[in-house]
Amino acid sequence: MSSSRRRNSEEQVRLVYKGRSWSYPVVTGTEGERAVDISTLRRDTGLITLDPGFVNTGACSSAITFVDGERGILRHRGYAIEDLAEHCVFLEVAYLLIMGKLPNRQEWQRFSSLMNQHSMIHEDMRDFFLNYPERAHPMAVLSAMVVSLSSFYPEIEQEPMEEVPLDITATRLLSKLRTIAAFSYKKSIGEPFVYPSYRMSYCENFLNMMFSSPVNDYWPDPVVVRALNLFLILHADHEQNCSTSVVRFVASAGGSLYASVAAGICALWGPLHGGANQAVIEMLERILREDKGRVDRVIERAKKKDPRTRLMGFGHRIYKTYDPRARIAKDACMKLLARLGLQNDPLLEIALELEEKALNDPYFKERHLYPNVDFYTGIAYRAMGIPTNMFTVMFAIGRLPGWIAHWMECRKDPTQKIARPRQVYIGETARPFIPMDQRP
Ligand code: CMC
Repeated sequence: MSSSRRRNSEEQVRLVYKGRSWSYPVVTGTEGERAVDISTLRRDTGLITLDPGFVNTGACSSAITFVDGERGILRHRGYAIEDLAEHCVFLEVAYLLIMGKLPNRQEWQRFSSLMNQHSMIHEDMRDFFLNYPERAHPMAVLSAMVVSLSSFYPEIEQEPMEEVPLDITATRLLSKLRTIAAFSYKKSIGEPFVYPSYRMSYCENFLNMMFSSPVNDYWPDPVVVRALNLFLILHADHEQNCSTSVVRFVASAGGSLYASVAAGICALWGPLHGGANQAVIEMLERILREDKGRVDRVIERAKKKDPRTRLMGFGHRIYKTYDPRARIAKDACMKLLARLGLQNDPLLEIALELEEKALNDPYFKERHLYPNVDFYTGIAYRAMGIPTNMFTVMFAIGRLPGWIAHWMECRKDPTQKIARPRQVYIGETARPFIPMDQRP
């Protein structure tokens, strides 16, 4: 755990309040980022900090992912996202995040065979799918199904974590989430479920479960399989983002892996977070349909500060330069569309124009607003035949290894306390209670 690798430097921050002063140590991470440790602040001074949206607040120390938003750097366990995206399949990156190292040949074989063993979901869970209304959003189904796994596979809640091999717990969830996601799609289009096949790789299996049917002898296109691997890698982890923080919050209370991940899925669903990939395509379609491709109008609307007209897929809390994932996603998206003969996709043309105009507009320049990972991934998923309401599910499948890694890190960290922020109360002050029969 990284808390052992953070250093207390010689530096101190002095706080002066009402004529008294206190010193707080500056701690330094392995990449040189610094934080003031204020863990005794309230005990010392009676004060708390107020930081809406945790813009300046570090909630933990972590050894999983490093992001430098000013320089556009993203590394998992020390490896650059560019290298992982180019050379790995998604499951290798999942292994890296969860186990802390890249697998050797033997570890890889064991991991792959565990993935096959655990890919089925309990037959009784099939009935759950059947009772959802046809128009149910797949994210609702996904989160409900994940938390339901805890009733079917309760071991993880009953045994101390050390007794359940971590790789079995992790693979069980990784493998099953993909099956649940594909089943929820099949249910929504009224087709029979397709079971996972041990002959196929992780991504092949997913595509097969999505698109194969009794009347469609489908075999996944290797170009699409490679692209899917890459897009899932780009989503795999992003340190303390909203959904991962939610996972860690639930974990800090002792919540099970399944309960924590189900909560993370719900957090991811929001349009400011993972739901942005669906919102981007809906925005591009609206521009095509209602604005007749007039990108300028959309940019002007986005500057009006109405949250409903924000440029979706633009901006990021951490990145103040081009999101490195967005750069890779854009390149992969263009290559994929060209290979599939879809290079003239009108939505791609609008996205490219929108990006170019926004990047040259003073409003976006001053605020350092660049395309984020969600800007081009939706166009690529659409080209793969994945329906729009499944885009955030794709993000969830990709983000799962990160959630698992953070859940495990949190549970093993001896310094972890239950997450419990404070508040500044602004409601009514104490007032006399009037019984019902005496109220006017
Ligand atoms: N369109 C127009 N203006 C924007 C946008 C946007 N997409 N994003 C930020 N701004 C403006 C915002 O109005 C504010 O202006 P001002 O300083 O004049 O008040 C300034 O830029 C800073 O914005 P903020 O809301 O304080 O930034 P934040 O760090 O709280 O929010 C964000 C980050 C991602 C929620 C936001 O940029 C946004 O809503 N983007 C669109 C949704 C989106 O694409 N989300 C996916 C994020 S990446 C995937 C993930 O990890 O979830």
